[in-house]
Amino acid sequence: GKGGHRHFMAKEIFEQPQVIGDTLNAMFNPTRRSITLPDLPFDLAAVPRITMIACGTASLAGLVGKYWLERFAGVAVDWDLASEFRYRAPVMAEGGLAIFISQSGETADTLAALRYCKQHGQHCLGIVNAPESTIAREADAVLPTLAGPEIGVASTKAFTTQLVVLACLTIALARARGVMDRETEARLSGAMTEVPSRAAEVLNHDGRIRAIAEDAFVPARDVLYLGRGTSYPLALEGALKLKEISYIHAEGYAAGEMKHGPIALIDEHVPVVVIAPSDPLFEKTASNVQEVVARGGKAVVFSDAEGVKRLRDLALDAVALPAVDPFVAPILYALPVQLLAYHTAVAKGTDVDQPRNLAKAVTVE
Ligand code: F6R
Repeated sequence: GKGGHRHFMAKEIFEQPQVIGDTLNAMFNPTRRSITLPDLPFDLAAVPRITMIACGTASLAGLVGKYWLERFAGVAVDWDLASEFRYRAPVMAEGGLAIFISQSGETADTLAALRYCKQHGQHCLGIVNAPESTIAREADAVLPTLAGPEIGVASTKAFTTQLVVLACLTIALARARGVMDRETEARLSGAMTEVPSRAAEVLNHDGRIRAIAEDAFVPARDVLYLGRGTSYPLALEGALKLKEISYIHAEGYAAGEMKHGPIALIDEHVPVVVIAPSDPLFEKTASNVQEVVARGGKAVVFSDAEGVKRLRDLALDAVALPAVDPFVAPILYALPVQLLAYHTAVAKGTDVDQPRNLAKAVTVE
């Protein structure tokens, strides 16, 4: 059932503190207070390069993973949409690691990309939610997301648990390669253990986000989402969620791209969602918000108390989420963009769990 919620999507959004914790606990050793992956049938430390492949929301988890793996583990990551990868004749060096992210484990393009990579000498790792699926079976190894069945067509808890697995992989790979000092590892692992309780705090903003959705998003025809660094894939994910369930046209942009074109779209009718946790890129995003507001744009800012203080006077609305280590921010900032899309869709009266034209698993290309 829906556990007392109106829709599976709401149930699944609110399950996230639990399933994030379950997914993390499977890889967390509480006595050593460290993250350990299950044994893999290849040497992770020897991997020269990574290719990250998926579709839709899963691909956006992969894009966050690319940023993490390059920054903390120092390994080059090629990121690709499965539907492009499989028809592009990609060049791959023997012994690389190819990662396939999929909730269903049945997405046709992702599966075809996996078969291509196997033929081209890659170690294939699945990050999969459905343990009995074809991708889980055909991959050389699987790191499971323990989200449980996801019924709502719009992916929510699968996305955040995919991020948890990718964060753990990042820490484990950095340690295996000897490129992360103990202090950093302890800081990142500690930040991960706090995510379930912080996620529960984020969900306390549900009523506030619902009010923003009803006031500013229901009437909108177009919405922009902006972010930098790991908040950029979150901007893409926020826009995807809004499009698919509320049918409002939305686009995610890297905040630094605004002045290369999209700022021409800004007027008082286009809400702009800004994903801006306090991190080393915050001031750059803040100046993009200034440019948007100067052109009449209505900014809705998701940040923490410090960031909200900085942007409150500029923004139409600003929601202060808990302050967290920037490493884990993308996991937590997924929640408000899910809630924003959900409440907008509910207020518009669309079929939230079964949006038009969409299927839960895309098993044909
Ligand atoms: C968006 C959504 C889709 C899926 C995509 C991949 O909310 O659900 O974009 O993420 O179809 O599906 P899986 O993860 O099953 O391969």
